[in-house]
Amino acid sequence: MKIRIDTRTLTPDGFGIEVSGFDMSQSDDQSGQVLTQAFLDHGGLLVLRDQTLETPNDLCQFTALFGEVEHNEKYDPRYLLPDYPEILRIGNTMENGQYNALFIRADPSPLLWHCDDSFRHPQPMGSCLYCVQAPPSGGETGFAGMAAAYEGLSETMKSRIDGLVTIHSYDHLNKLLRRRNPHRPPLSDALKQEHPPIRRPLVACHPVTQRKSLYLPLCHIEGIEGMAATEGDALLEELQAHAVQERYTYFQHWQPGDLVLWDNRCTLHAPTPFDDENYSRLMYRLTVTGPQISAA
Ligand code: OGA
Ligand code: MN
Repeated sequence: MKIRIDTRTLTPDGFGIEVSGFDMSQSDDQSGQVLTQAFLDHGGLLVLRDQTLETPNDLCQFTALFGEVEHNEKYDPRYLLPDYPEILRIGNTMENGQYNALFIRADPSPLLWHCDDSFRHPQPMGSCLYCVQAPPSGGETGFAGMAAAYEGLSETMKSRIDGLVTIHSYDHLNKLLRRRNPHRPPLSDALKQEHPPIRRPLVACHPVTQRKSLYLPLCHIEGIEGMAATEGDALLEELQAHAVQERYTYFQHWQPGDLVLWDNRCTLHAPTPFDDENYSRLMYRLTVTGPQISAA
């Protein structure tokens, strides 16, 4: 049977696609191929709405269309959905006076634009968020298309950044997050050893589409190799300001049942703040493995 879906692009430049007429319970090889193509053709951002979970396993089967579903070894087991090590709870929900979800309190500015786990190799190819509970306002997620952002740079800037290498570090990120999130513990020695700082290209080549993109999760980046911190930081900030302009971004205003999948190799995303003292937000997150970026 041929699957019939309707689609709508999410930004004028064609970054992001919303698919309707597809139900997660229809996940099979054929729908996997159609959705993967739509995802790749639109810069790695796919939005589905009104998805109901018969069981959390529906979510595992859906994400498995795109790659092998990862487990969440580096997270506190309290944050995982019981019986589903693939599913990480993200949000501010509590159990016995403690968060039972990974809670990141965001600042309104600057937003924490990042791709997931660029400080480990291999990094997850894609991540998916499913909305269980959303606050009435705020708590959105912004997405930015890094291939379009790269293509929008001046030729002078493209040649200036060509071949530059950045250092990505989990510990750097954790220290930065702890400023606003004192509930977050320092990184354990074991995690530090498992995730030493790594070198990453500033301009990445996508392994499937071969499109070049800015690879710029600023909050993971300690600096540019071989460049003084003041010069490096100024350059990275200038690039980020360019990359997250309105024309390259889409913000998801979450409703329960929304499902978004993104490509960590060529997009950035960022949570926006919400009134976490008065409202609950709960998302289920899954990540999948896949081919890795190379230096462009
Ligand atoms: C994530 C993430 C953003 C959000 O789950 O990796 O960055 O809005 N989430 O919850
Ligand atoms: Mn993330």
